[in-house]
Amino acid sequence: MAANSEADISEAQIAVHWKEEPLIDPPASFIAQANMKDKQIWDRFAEKNFPECYKEYADMLSWDQPWKTTLDTSKPPFWKWFVGGKINASYNCVDRHLAKYKNKAALIWVPEPEDEAIQTITYQELYKRVNEFALLLKEFAGLSKGDRITFHLPMIPELPISMLACARLGIIHNQVFGGFSAKACAERMEDSKSHVLVTVDGYYRNGQLIDKKKEADITVEEAKKLGIDVKKVLVWRRHPGKYVSQSPMVEGRDFFVDEVVKPFRGKTVAPVSMDSEDPLFLMYTSGSTGRPKGAQHRTGGYLAYVTGTSKYVQDIHPEDVYWCFADIGWITGHSYIVYGPLALAATSVMYEGVPLYPDAGRPWRIAERLGVNIFHTAPTTIRMLRKAGPDEPAKYNYHFKSMTTVGEPIEPETWRWYYNTVGKKDAAITDTWWQTENGGFLCSTLPALAPMKAGSAGPGVPGIYPIIYDENGVEVPAGQGKAGNICIRNPWPGIMQTIWGDPDRFVKVYYAKYNKNKDSKDWRDWPYFAGDGAVLALDGYFRILGRVDDVIKVAGHRLGTKELENAVLTTPQVAEAAAIAMLDELRGHVPVVYVALKPGIAPSKELEETIKANVVTALGPIARPKSVYIVPDLPKTRSGKIMRRVLASISDRKDYGDVTTLANPDIVETIRKQVQTG
Ligand code: WTA
Repeated sequence: MAANSEADISEAQIAVHWKEEPLIDPPASFIAQANMKDKQIWDRFAEKNFPECYKEYADMLSWDQPWKTTLDTSKPPFWKWFVGGKINASYNCVDRHLAKYKNKAALIWVPEPEDEAIQTITYQELYKRVNEFALLLKEFAGLSKGDRITFHLPMIPELPISMLACARLGIIHNQVFGGFSAKACAERMEDSKSHVLVTVDGYYRNGQLIDKKKEADITVEEAKKLGIDVKKVLVWRRHPGKYVSQSPMVEGRDFFVDEVVKPFRGKTVAPVSMDSEDPLFLMYTSGSTGRPKGAQHRTGGYLAYVTGTSKYVQDIHPEDVYWCFADIGWITGHSYIVYGPLALAATSVMYEGVPLYPDAGRPWRIAERLGVNIFHTAPTTIRMLRKAGPDEPAKYNYHFKSMTTVGEPIEPETWRWYYNTVGKKDAAITDTWWQTENGGFLCSTLPALAPMKAGSAGPGVPGIYPIIYDENGVEVPAGQGKAGNICIRNPWPGIMQTIWGDPDRFVKVYYAKYNKNKDSKDWRDWPYFAGDGAVLALDGYFRILGRVDDVIKVAGHRLGTKELENAVLTTPQVAEAAAIAMLDELRGHVPVVYVALKPGIAPSKELEETIKANVVTALGPIARPKSVYIVPDLPKTRSGKIMRRVLASISDRKDYGDVTTLANPDIVETIRKQVQTG
């Protein structure tokens, strides 16, 4: 924290100097049809009604058995929600809609190649496919409740089908983002102790057919090195009856799903009635130190929370065509492509490819073609679309009633383009702030009840009581333009249960910092530390400034500086490495790496490229450093701590401040010259 505190202050200063943005009211047409336009909601979810207020969300679901205790605080901070309740997530997202919506589209999948047919999967079809795959998992793969399974899947409909099949039986799914490497996937298999891998032969990205099965072979090898024997690799096929991978199928290990599913065609399996607190899935994410952590999400609380927030914040109705343009390998996709929208019987659109393929009009053609009326994406995508096609949206005849942004702070400039051009000044925008660990939205406006403000997420959503603390745990009041650490004072149903296999780390990372009394059983003593800097305006809107720890957000995806540095250090010539986040016009931030070499080794362009390649191998293409600077030495404090902040300032061409107290102050100017003139 200490190394970053100066950076926080400078960010706070920026925040102070940004002028207050005006408030903009949502369109009357939006308000007229909104799910939540009753101001009483604030009273219903006020602290005096906590935690019972969350009954309102849980009641949106179909329970096999009602819960007895809404919130159990007997073992803080391991909260339990809807204790005693029994429920199945797959039933809630699929089966229960059949009576009314059997023939309605549940998923609409848009392949990247524009001449390939769009696939519509009705609730009936989804029901059949989920059941068949669930039976395969049970009978063929031998999996049952509590087992873990790993998916390394791109944006194909088989991904939500696989998730819902697991949820049906209580198998804990662990989807690894497609942009992560085979090695990263193997590490997550090892951590979660999963022995079955689900993949696909290939998929399209930016016009290329990517060979995914090849990666699975590496995953199996890497997992073996870590002591995990992958027993089965289940391979979906991107094109029916055709195998597009170069990698041979390994006898007895690799199986085509379309072949081994045959005995289960048309058969169904009853959903397993899960305890509310049984885990639903793991989602690995980067922390500030060491290895990625598996955020373990519960069944009942999580599903209630994503359903309630999908309904009130995103305003999803069953009649809507909702498109969340994000990856399901990200928590956003789990909560707001799959579980939330499907629990509400919406039509959820999935797109296989990249925003600009084949041109900057593609997303707007999809919206027009499918009649999408709710759109949800990340600032990095918005920036990209704006840069490549600022006038494209006007050429297409679609109408969004609401739009969401998520994943990183959105600059007012970009927000205005989203509002004026993408939304055609006729859509309500919600800027939703939250994290992998949280299950669902934490701060956002309720779109029909409050005006929007460019660049500010808004107040806590119903039932979330945020607060900003300074380093000493003193509340930073509203309206002072002073930044601090945003925390949530209370537990909520979407919060993760723990870090898979590492409860101590869970307590340490999220609760130790501001815990008032470690023996207390009162939730008020256990504020949740989010790791983000924020400022609070007088009107109660929070503006999120970004991470205060060593987490880098690259195009909305989280990477740990330690993870990056460890990847760089797999290059034998490297003695020391520092990874920093450099500001980037499109991606928000990009990783940049500074390295010092072992004695006697000469710097070279080839070595820089090798280092980049090693990072891609270890972590995946998402982590590829924009630049690698081989420098004579890294700036350090007298106690030997690498000053990443100084390096970040140099990369961003900002003033690096006073460095006279460093152990090697002269190196800073040498590096600056090398970077800024080289
Ligand atoms: C950042 C993504 C500003 C924040 C759902 C957080 C945001 C991290 C916003 C979590 C937003 C997310 N405005 N910053 N609306 N939403 N963030 O775990 O730094 O991938 O801590 O979850 O993204 O990233 P994660």
